[in-house]
Amino acid sequence: MTLQYKFPEGFWWGSATSATQIEGAANEGGKGQNIWDYWYKTEPNRFFDNVGPESTSDFYHHYKEDIHLMKEIGHNTFRLSISWSRLIPGGRGEVNPEAVTFYNNVIDELLAKDIEPFVNLFHFDMPLELQNEGGWENREVVEAYKKYAEKCFRLFGDRVKKWFTFNEPIVPVEGGYLYDFHYPNVVDAKRAAQVAYHTIVAHAKAVEVFHSLDFIDGKIGIILNLTPSYPRSQNPADLRASRIADLFFNRSFLYPAVLGKYPQELVEILREHGQLPVTQKGDRELLLNNTADILGVNYYQPRRVKAKEHLPNPYSPFVPDWFFDHYEMPGRKMNKYRGWEIYEKGIYDIMMNLKENYGNIESFVSENGMGVQDEHRFIKDGEIQDDYRIEFIKEHLKWLHKAIEEGCNTKGYHLWSFMDNWSWMNAYKNRYGFVSMDVESKKRTLKKSAHWIKEVSKNNGF
Ligand code: BG6
Repeated sequence: MTLQYKFPEGFWWGSATSATQIEGAANEGGKGQNIWDYWYKTEPNRFFDNVGPESTSDFYHHYKEDIHLMKEIGHNTFRLSISWSRLIPGGRGEVNPEAVTFYNNVIDELLAKDIEPFVNLFHFDMPLELQNEGGWENREVVEAYKKYAEKCFRLFGDRVKKWFTFNEPIVPVEGGYLYDFHYPNVVDAKRAAQVAYHTIVAHAKAVEVFHSLDFIDGKIGIILNLTPSYPRSQNPADLRASRIADLFFNRSFLYPAVLGKYPQELVEILREHGQLPVTQKGDRELLLNNTADILGVNYYQPRRVKAKEHLPNPYSPFVPDWFFDHYEMPGRKMNKYRGWEIYEKGIYDIMMNLKENYGNIESFVSENGMGVQDEHRFIKDGEIQDDYRIEFIKEHLKWLHKAIEEGCNTKGYHLWSFMDNWSWMNAYKNRYGFVSMDVESKKRTLKKSAHWIKEVSKNNGF
């Protein structure tokens, strides 16, 4: 068979998930509470259809069946996250033996099926007790995270070779401290900057520990959601707006995680507006000496911006949006089911940027996907006919292929997500999986895209 898009030997085909979104068993197996368990209990009506994280996809009890399906659809890699509050209830101290058994079982089952586990340590799910101490605002929580990370490396590092410190660390900053979609629902840029800063310090500390353990021979990195920033026009005001959006939403994490330092322009803006976080002596060296070995790129949509039309009210709380307005490009292609722009070339632009400005760091697409509401509309003969998802993936893969041909150090593609899952405040509103999951019965059914990806993975291209 002649393939027009053939990927390099050993390309990683798979999908991504996170503990709180799939495990369920939120009150089982000795798990402690995290901020999602708590927030849902206190404000259930903030969640779509009032559905909380107690049972989600029940991966906790269905992991064997799920891993069997992963194999069935051609995965050679799979991303999961460890739930901090499951492994160490309360966030500090003794590990929970039932959690160790569970994660050992999952890892062993994956390896038995020749699926390499990619393990992420933090996917938005702060243990409640640590949040009550201030969460990422509190430098002591960074120390607790370092211990948790080391525990994970020691428990599972003999078998797990790809580690990630955080998934989308900017999201708890935006959601929890700027735009009110994560607990603790605060709007305060200075606190947001502190949270962002401590997250990067925590990342560097975990990298430092990881590299100090001589029995470890894997790699460690971070997963960032990158939203390439495109200006409305080439006029200087639009260009500046786009540069500042990129500074806040991409370079604020890319720079310190990959280059080991903050962009000077960001430091100056925060200083000018009195928003600089508190730092400690030695942090600068810590960051510089502990950069990521590997980068996961989550890409869903670009960010289109234009110069600010009205000056912000100087008495309103400082937010990054003080510097730019969002811009809806005429004729843009939309995922009309989710309301997000589809711009496939964005993936190529990201990878070329990594090649040119970030030392061509080893990377992969760690999330990309198409959320669709009411997907049961597309069922025919018992199977969801998600041709739109196949098209979406294919078009992104074409651009990824081009990036690789042009020398980008890109090793794989993971769809968000393996199966439909509980998505924070959106609960089950948007479905993303290769596999559909009935929320009541927990029955799994392959979608058309699952059969398609099976062929693509088998042929290493299409
Ligand atoms: C990603 C997150 O940014 O978006 C996932 O890493 C999340 O955790 C996914 O589920 C989809 O989000 P939504 O809001 O479309 O359901």
